Amino acid sequence: MRIGILTSGGDCAGLNAVILAVVRRAVLGYGWDVVGIRQGTHGLLQRPPAVVPLNDYVNNDGMLRLGGTILGTINKGNPFHYPMPDGSFTDRSDEVIAGYEALGLDALIGIGGDGSMAILRELAQKGGINLVGIPKTIDNDLAHTEYSVGFTTAVNVAVDALDRLQPTAASHERIMILEVMGRDAGHIALFAGIAGGADVILIPEMDYDLEDMAQHCLNIRKRGRNHALVIVAEAIKTDTGDAVISGHDGQKARYGGVGHWLAEKLGERTGWETRVTVLGHLQRGGTPSPRDRLVASTFGVHAVDLIAQGKFDRVVAWQQRRVVDVPMADVITGPRLVDTGETMVSTAIGLGAYMGTPPK
Ligand code: F6P
Repeated sequence: MRIGILTSGGDCAGLNAVILAVVRRAVLGYGWDVVGIRQGTHGLLQRPPAVVPLNDYVNNDGMLRLGGTILGTINKGNPFHYPMPDGSFTDRSDEVIAGYEALGLDALIGIGGDGSMAILRELAQKGGINLVGIPKTIDNDLAHTEYSVGFTTAVNVAVDALDRLQPTAASHERIMILEVMGRDAGHIALFAGIAGGADVILIPEMDYDLEDMAQHCLNIRKRGRNHALVIVAEAIKTDTGDAVISGHDGQKARYGGVGHWLAEKLGERTGWETRVTVLGHLQRGGTPSPRDRLVASTFGVHAVDLIAQGKFDRVVAWQQRRVVDVPMADVITGPRLVDTGETMVSTAIGLGAYMGTPPK
């Protein structure tokens, strides 16, 4: 057997740990060959296809700790709607499938988020590719899995940032605002907000009121604390109703990031000095957390075992302390948003944080 593996979409910590787990299980467990495809589906458009033989990586234990992806994940475009230099779009899916066939692979493991998996699945169905998916994204917004690779590292980075912001906030008597990623979802802001003791946690799944939020900060001061910590997910909406997405949609951000917009509004309403930190891609790089290594390793082993059992068109998932697998079609249906009735939201509110209200 000869299997391929690729990473697709935005990178995150733990991708190399997945690759290592796949190689170790495939090589040591089954005696297969593993081929890494470079730059996602883009590598399959090259002639010859751009690949890295991975069997020798079985001894590369540094991979467990290494951020980024050794395979690269440049997103040049959807092969079904591929951007051409003249500004037009063309369907290059047949070329990608031909590249895959040229490699003589029996199966493919795709590590990606919902967008990448949707494209890979379409390719698999068109080209008869035996595909297994592994969920990764710092946003943790994939359906049917409690964890995706990269999420807990991003949370740890955000908590570390709050740990560093708290003493300086206290020294200068300021409101410190930390803007975190998450695309459409507020999982990073919510988890990090609780673990890092934020006084205000703003996520796109909840509605907020600027006056109430300002009053909440003023009440903190009345209670005798001279500083406050605010964590805000990049995709919250402004009071004009526009989404301000400073990460994914950076070029379109109207206020240079929602954190800056919020700082201005909170400062005006409280008379309190505010400062902003936009965490950005720091949340994606660096050494994966132990939890991400664990999830990555478990997912990698299970994905190879699925191939050995001839089970395809499935995605490995984490549910109630177990690794399971679910139909790929179920995972790519759209972002998994924070459930506003869930324990985490009530915990944050129970701790006295301002989170706004669930949308009417
Ligand atoms: O989906 C992962 C993510 O990091 C989002 O949280 C963020 O909105 C986006 O990707 C950033 O994308 P890019 O790397 O293209 O700036």
